[in-house]
Order: sequence, then structure tokens, then C-alpha cells
Amino acid sequence: MAHKSRILIKGGKVVNEECSERADVYVEDGIIQAVGLDLQTPAGTRVIDARGNLILPGGIDTHTHMELAFMGTVAVDDFYTGTKAAVAGGTTMILDFVIPQKGASLLEAYERWRNTADRKVCCDYSLHVAVTWWDESVKREMETLVQEKGVNSFKMFLAYKNVFMLSDHELYSAFSHCKDIGAIAQVHAENGDLIAEGAKKMLSLGITGPEGHELCRPEEVEAEATQRAITIAHSVNCPLYVVHVMSKSAAKVVASARRNGRVVFGEPIAAGLGTDGTHYWNKDWAHAAGFVMGPPLRPDPSTPGYLMDLLANDDLSVTGTDNCTFSVCQKALGKDDFTKIPNGVNGVEDRMSVIWEKGVHSGKMDENRFVAVTSSNAAKLFNLYPQKGRIAKGSDADLVIWGPKSCCVCFRVISAKTHHQAVDYNIFEGMVCHGVPLVTISRGRVVYEHGRVVAEPGTGRFIPRKPCAEFVYKRIKQREEVRAHASVHHCYSKFTVAYDL
Ligand code: URP
Ligand code: ZN
Ligand code: ZN
Ligand code: ZN
Repeated sequence: MAHKSRILIKGGKVVNEECSERADVYVEDGIIQAVGLDLQTPAGTRVIDARGNLILPGGIDTHTHMELAFMGTVAVDDFYTGTKAAVAGGTTMILDFVIPQKGASLLEAYERWRNTADRKVCCDYSLHVAVTWWDESVKREMETLVQEKGVNSFKMFLAYKNVFMLSDHELYSAFSHCKDIGAIAQVHAENGDLIAEGAKKMLSLGITGPEGHELCRPEEVEAEATQRAITIAHSVNCPLYVVHVMSKSAAKVVASARRNGRVVFGEPIAAGLGTDGTHYWNKDWAHAAGFVMGPPLRPDPSTPGYLMDLLANDDLSVTGTDNCTFSVCQKALGKDDFTKIPNGVNGVEDRMSVIWEKGVHSGKMDENRFVAVTSSNAAKLFNLYPQKGRIAKGSDADLVIWGPKSCCVCFRVISAKTHHQAVDYNIFEGMVCHGVPLVTISRGRVVYEHGRVVAEPGTGRFIPRKPCAEFVYKRIKQREEVRAHASVHHCYSKFTVAYDL
């Protein structure tokens, strides 16, 4: 009988971020033991034929909100259905956000997330923590989270006025502290004051439908906040990660800051790369509301292609989904007022195929860049590399056998009828994808094959992360050092002469 934890993947092409090679991969006890040709394997090893296919590092989704309590309801995909869907789509790790209410303990919220997620996840996961208010206790708790709880990333909101939003001076303190403790600051970059004013204006004009959601927060509202966050972070030499970059304007701000040497990283998401905001004008209210998320998808239909170009060129760095799903009847909470439509869309299952389709199948990026933006860069940014995001001896055996061709087996049409998520619609409905996961292996176990998920709840692990990821902090530290030596040694001799007289 085949030994469950021993797998040899034979005949495929191993794809890492810098190169691809014909090689077999031998996995035992959850770890990649060898990569090469003619590998000797113990009796009882299960052999998986990967001829004609690629072997990729499992995808890392940098941005999810499983079962998040938000806007008066709770996201329908929980840590079980969400991670089940993830592995069905070739993703083997998610990074979810702990979001404490204003005034609440970050540590208590973190423990709550852990208690919920640990027993449900089907693949590995880690946690970012949101800072939604500011005082000395928050500061101390951030330190504890970094030193004892495996957190190295904190999200601050410039939007959601009176709910999660921080003021500029609070952002300044939070970014400064992130820098002191070796964490990366993440921002939801939209101007919350302008959104609040814009929303009032739309409602007063009688615009109550989903299109009002975009109209009250046009691109410049996102671009302004993106620029402001970059300026504040730079003033304290803190690395910055802009989550869900949704518009051309905001993406240009990130790209230009990178060219000016700022340590900033932009994360487009599957929704923004795969679809657009014209759906808000759909006559069917439920259809339109299904796309409501913040920042909104943009009505300019050339936006997804533009974001993909920037992702291909390293102006943008990494991809997530912001998976935060509400069913059609939950969305209906806002049927008379778009400000009450729960914000969020799906993506965790479809991200890999959507990015392959719009990025690789379209000719904008090669298979190696695909790996960089779907796993390796995320692993580097959040200090998981090379445990995750790489196929090499000693790395975790999180792998996907990927069908890259447009033949009968290797394409799929995305549909809510066949997806594994709990949500009852799919924003990518009908999209044909010419790159699909055929087999997903999480921690050395096959969790998805022949179209079926075989993962059990609680089999994933929490992956702790250390601070000061080199990929992020090397330049920051170099600058500190150079600056420390750059102060001018002034000469006071003239004064001395004057006093001597
Ligand atoms: O619409 C969104 N993005 N919902 C989730 C919360 C957030 O802002 O990321
Ligand atoms: Zn956000
Ligand atoms: Zn989010
Ligand atoms: Zn095929």
C-alpha cells in the first residue's frame, strides 16, 4: 500500500520564480526532500504523473476575511469552506485579518481568530492584525503580537470613518511603531471623510443603488489616501504595503513611489484583475450589489489590464483576493441604501486561474512571474520564504500540479454552480480559464484531485512569522545606518574665538 506521506511527482516541469526545470519532486512527512531527476524513493511511495504539466509552489492568498463579522452580518465563507475552496483553486496558504473593534484588545481578538480558525482550516494560514484605534495599550499589544504570537504585519484603515479609521497623527504613531518592532504596515487606502461626504451627496440626489457606491468614492479618493499613506510611512522610514489596489490612479501612485525609492508594495486582487466596475450599473440589483467592495471596482474597463501590466512589470508586487463573501440575501441589507450593502466579494478559489488567464494566457507574464506574484513574493514580504513560496529541498510540501494548456482537461468555466465556496454567486461567473490546478498538495498530503477536495477541517496549521523580513527591512536598515553617519559635524571655532576675546 502506498505510504500516505510519501509522494513522488514525476515528469513535470518545476517552476520557481527565477527559473523552470524538468525535475521530479519527492515529498515525505510534509517536506520536500528532493528535487531532481532519477530520484531514489522508498517502497510504498505514491507516484503522481505530472507529464505535460507544471509543478508550482502552492498559492499564497495574502488577503482574506473568512467569517468576518462586518456591516451587520457575517461573511458566509468560514475558515473551513474558505480554505476548502482555496485548495480547490491551487492555494495552500491564506493570510487572514484579525480586526478588533475600536477600543477592544488586539490580543483578545487574535486569540478569538486562532480559536476559530485552528480547528477549521484545511490548509496552512497566518494572521495580519488590524489597528483600529490608538493608545499605549495598543502599542504594547503590537509588541506582544510580534514577539510572542507570530504576527509581523498590521493593517491600518484610512477609510470606514467612525468604525476602523485612524487619523493622520494616529497613522504616524502606528507606522513609527511598526518600524520600531520590525513589522510591515499595511493600509486600506481610501479617504474616509470624502467617502462619508460623497455618500451623503449621492443619497441626497436619490442615487441609492450599487452604482452610488462607486460614484461616492471615485479613483482620486483612493489615490489621495495612497499618496498620504506613502508620505507618512516614508517620514518614519517604515515599509508600507498597500492592500487591494483597485484603480489606475492608485496603482500609478504606488509605481511612482517605488521609482522614487520608497519601500512600498502594492497588492492588486483577483477581482480587480479579473473584472470591472461596469457591473454596478447592471439593471439587476442583486447582480450589481454582488460586486460591491471597498475600494470599488472601477468602471473604466481598461483598469484590469492596466493593473495586470503593472503586476507583470513589478510596479505591483503580489496578489490576494480580499475574499469576504456575502450571499445575495445578505447583500439585500442595502437594497434601499448602497451604504448598507455589506462590502466584499469572492476570489480565494479563483485567484490562481484568473491571474493565469489574464496574466499568462494573455501573454503579459511568464510562468515564473506567475509564481512570483502568486506565492514567492508573498512569502518574502511576510517572512515565510523559503519555507513557503519555493520548490526546493527543505521547503514545505505545498504544491500544485498545474494544467497550463487549452485542452479539454486544462480549462474550466468559473461558475457558482460548481465552485466550492459557500457564497451563492460568483463575480467571475462564465469566465473561461485555461490554467487549472489538477492536484493540490498541502503539507505533503493530496487535498484536491480529480475535481474533488479531500481535506479535513483542522488539518492546516497556523504559521508564525518573525519580524524584520529581509526582503522588506534590508533597505530600511541600510538607510538608517547611512543616515546615522550622515549628520554634519559642525565647527564652533568662530564662537570660541569670540568668547576668548
Ligand atoms: O470590501 C471589502 N474590502 N471588505 C473587506 C474589508 C476590507 O476593507 O478589506
Ligand atoms: Zn480593506
Ligand atoms: Zn480586506
Ligand atoms: Zn490538458
